[in-house]
Amino acid sequence: MLKSLEGFIEPGSEEERLVNELDFSRIPDHVAVIMDGNGRWAKKRDLPRVEGHRAGAKSVQEVIETSARLGIKVLTLYAFSKENWKRPKREIATLWRLLEDYLKKEDKVLVENNFRLRVVGQREDLPPAIRRELERVEELTRNNDKLQICLALNYGGRAEIVDAVKKALKDKSVNPDTLDEKIFSRYLYTAGIPDPDLLIRTSGEFRVSNFLLWQIAYSEIWITQDYWPDFRRKHLLQAIVDYQKRERRFGDIHPPR
Ligand code: FPP
Repeated sequence: MLKSLEGFIEPGSEEERLVNELDFSRIPDHVAVIMDGNGRWAKKRDLPRVEGHRAGAKSVQEVIETSARLGIKVLTLYAFSKENWKRPKREIATLWRLLEDYLKKEDKVLVENNFRLRVVGQREDLPPAIRRELERVEELTRNNDKLQICLALNYGGRAEIVDAVKKALKDKSVNPDTLDEKIFSRYLYTAGIPDPDLLIRTSGEFRVSNFLLWQIAYSEIWITQDYWPDFRRKHLLQAIVDYQKRERRFGDIHPPR
């Protein structure tokens, strides 16, 4: 058992069984998550939708801590899509409040744990107070390198590609004849971040919902029927155990010649 997991995983539990199945030399570097089902979780309990988001914020904390203990380097969470602005104003306000509370309460925890926060998405259209708070915490944690937490906010995969094209066109140093995928990816919001190895989606939907369209070209996808507020460390362990059983060929044959 890894030292970082001692005392964290209960002896004899299902989690311990899953941890014992893990190959710690092949932990995915980057895990991306489509956190879905908060509303349905609340509805099932006859609660307002916002209670689902509140419960979902607890799952966020559990996944962050577990990711760090497992040695995952980057965790990207789809927290607010460009399409989410269509939701009722009250629900949107609750989502921003949860994020603000999280940043105000957890900033010290991020620093103490050597976690870095980064935002991906059209940040210029975020509510100004939220944007300021995000930029404060990004600045505070910019040199940290244990775990990078990327929050996808006001994010859309197609918009990201269009924004990258615009940036590249404005960049006089770009030569269309030599432009390639590697150079192009420097204009994405995720510049410098490796592509996700594993994409997790909750609540049983088989869609990518405009998330990291460029970056998930070769990601392994793992879907659970459970709603995001029910997502626990055991789910993350199950996803990684399953990921480690997959054969990633990146279009090549196996074994490569
Ligand atoms: C999807 O469920 C979830 C969201 C759109 C928001 C995710 C936000 C959180 C988990 C809480 C705050 C986050 C942080 C980083 C502290 P849904 O509402 O689409 O569910 P439904 O499909 O069942 O309606």
